[in-house]
Amino acid sequence: MKYELMGQRCIRFTDGKKEKYLEAINKGLVRIYEKKNSEDLVKLTYTFDDASFEFIDDKSTNKKAVFDFGKYTFEVGEDLLIKVREDKVPYFEECLCKETGRKSDADAFDIAVLEGAAAKEKGIEKGLKMGFCIFDGKDRFYGLGDKAAQLNRRGYDYISWNSDDPTQHNETYKSLYKSVNYVMVNHHSYKYYGVFYPSSYKCTFNLGKESDDFWSIETEKGQADYFLILGENPQQITKTYAGLVGKTLFPPFKMLGYQQSRWSFTEEEARNLVKNSKKYGLPLDYIVFDIDYMDNYKVYTVSEKWIKDMKALSDEFAAEGVGIITIIDPAVKLEKGYPLYDLLVKEKGFATFEGEEYVNRVWPGDAKYPNYFDKKTADIIAKVSKDYMKENGVACIWTDMNEPASFNGPLPDKVEFKTEEKTYYHDEVHNLYAEYMVRAISKAFTEDNKRPALVTRAGFATTAQFTTSWNGDNMSLWTHLAASLPQVATMNICNFAMNGVDIGGFNCDTTKELLIRWLEANLFSPFFRNHSSIGTLHQEPFSFDEETREIYKKMLDIRYSFTPYLYDLLHRAHECGEPVIRPLFYEYPLDEKCKECNDEIFVGGDILFAPIVNQGATSRMVYLPEGNWVDFFTGKIYEGGKEYIFSADFSETIILIKTGAVIPMFKNVKHLNKKDIDTLYLYFAPFADGEKKDLVYELYEDDGETLDYEKGIYSIFRISRNEEGTEIEQVKADYPSDYKKVVIIENGEETEADFYGSINRDL
Ligand code: GLC
Repeated sequence: MKYELMGQRCIRFTDGKKEKYLEAINKGLVRIYEKKNSEDLVKLTYTFDDASFEFIDDKSTNKKAVFDFGKYTFEVGEDLLIKVREDKVPYFEECLCKETGRKSDADAFDIAVLEGAAAKEKGIEKGLKMGFCIFDGKDRFYGLGDKAAQLNRRGYDYISWNSDDPTQHNETYKSLYKSVNYVMVNHHSYKYYGVFYPSSYKCTFNLGKESDDFWSIETEKGQADYFLILGENPQQITKTYAGLVGKTLFPPFKMLGYQQSRWSFTEEEARNLVKNSKKYGLPLDYIVFDIDYMDNYKVYTVSEKWIKDMKALSDEFAAEGVGIITIIDPAVKLEKGYPLYDLLVKEKGFATFEGEEYVNRVWPGDAKYPNYFDKKTADIIAKVSKDYMKENGVACIWTDMNEPASFNGPLPDKVEFKTEEKTYYHDEVHNLYAEYMVRAISKAFTEDNKRPALVTRAGFATTAQFTTSWNGDNMSLWTHLAASLPQVATMNICNFAMNGVDIGGFNCDTTKELLIRWLEANLFSPFFRNHSSIGTLHQEPFSFDEETREIYKKMLDIRYSFTPYLYDLLHRAHECGEPVIRPLFYEYPLDEKCKECNDEIFVGGDILFAPIVNQGATSRMVYLPEGNWVDFFTGKIYEGGKEYIFSADFSETIILIKTGAVIPMFKNVKHLNKKDIDTLYLYFAPFADGEKKDLVYELYEDDGETLDYEKGIYSIFRISRNEEGTEIEQVKADYPSDYKKVVIIENGEETEADFYGSINRDL
């Protein structure tokens, strides 16, 4: 084995047959490759620092080469396999994937396929296989985006291939809507590392399914090339990962509000919802119109039969503080005379196959797929989106079916997406299709200095920069309710901060109890939407009885009271890559009890949330990690490091706050229209008896809707607390506050003060 230094940050190794490279990107990031995957379309945002390798061992007689990289040691052996140690302890190792006895007889499935049951087992990739050691048999695997599984994906394999399959999602479901080629691994009980595979081709992550010795990434068409993310804990690794795939979107403040959706509300139903929400005091920020509002499912059209005058309706709703969201699918109905279709034909804006425009079938029947990868087509879509939103008063666009879905069999691998520079094929761009769709539409907002108000179903690892997201067609099942917590937490550590699921469940009929518990369990979900399928029992807050409506209202009020806190978290997610919703191990990486906790989450670092997710249950065990915790509803303080039984009947949930924490809150707010909210509440959690600690909370404020914050137009208030007192100082004052009053909530009492009068002095 020979190596050569290619500058300070890159080393080339060769054994005479193949070559391999180690490239230091920054102190937490090393790229390891034989050949790089193309970055033409997978746009990564990593930045270099002065990280470099330092050669330390020449006793090797060509058998190995050893380099220091900060506190890590990289060793490359004759076989060109990489071993990384941290403090002499194995940290990360490549290995060969040896056959083990544990195998599934995938080729013998034909008979089972007849029944349909085992069809999904097929399709494991052959080809390139990159193997990595499992060290002590206990490694845990987190990440991979929206897969509907428990936090720890150990023992399963998952295929990155964006798929629209509305049958029941669960842990053995190999592909869902998004492809997030990222895992964070925990081993030796205290070490964590991350691996990101930057290819958009189909690939499989096999997380120790066949073996307890190795895990692997397999691909037919991608290159041997991955990023190794080094770090002491999940916080560092998550931050570095966010720097690699791009800052998560900072959406408009209003999008933290409640969205009421259903396939498909009529104009009258929508009006009644707005009216009833007002009448009964239920918060509401958006009404969502699903596909039937369109004229024959033609995107960017409105059927006058369905909604007489969309602009008039949106003005009417806007006056009530409610925005309109409409669905837009990618495929364009094949119909001469339909302006968008004609325009895209004229401008050669559709994907082609064997020289013809490619046709498949989706909601509108035969339809063609816009080639969003082509700049000219993307610009057309941006313009059409902008005009459409303006003309109809649409506040937010919900993009769906962008895997892309196709009812007439999958798109062939060789469907062509031509750009000025080159022709891309479907097998390379499939997983990026949704991203390029939302990239195009997001321009309709950013060109006007507005933050994108967008939702997507499909996506790639890098897509959260442009859009919020939800996790597709779940079912009204208790198992899916329970799965929503690890799913949203996982999406969050994968940089998809503004994520959520359909509250109440999409397919199948919900029940009164399931709906309420679902709302409760998703109370902190950044993306917050109740949505259900056509043909199922209605599940709007007014669909059951008065009791349901009352509890629903109570829970929505609780959600809205925490929105300033959620907004601060979203801002930090955007700026620093910190997730909003966090699995417990993110905050307590060394606590074994936190590593597989699927029914509790952290909201930021200060709120521990433990909803009830089982039918009929009115109490549950809650594990409180180290520290002291105060029950938000009773004020009782609990010592952490233990399990407790908490009760919460149907109309209650369980929220614990770190003692001494500061939580900014609202009261009695029904719509998140920032400028209309003039009172900020600051909840000061009590300290435990004799507890001494210093806490600092930074409250962020801006206009909540434009991109002005990028120009520094925002304010930051620093609130410092210890057991002796609290101080607020304004450390950045570039946005004149919308708040007139501040109310301190402490020990059950509320004290009102003039907002600016409270700043820069002790409270
Ligand atoms: C897809 C979406 C679902 C939507 C339906 C009709 O199934 O996932 O949310 O309601 O299409 O547009």
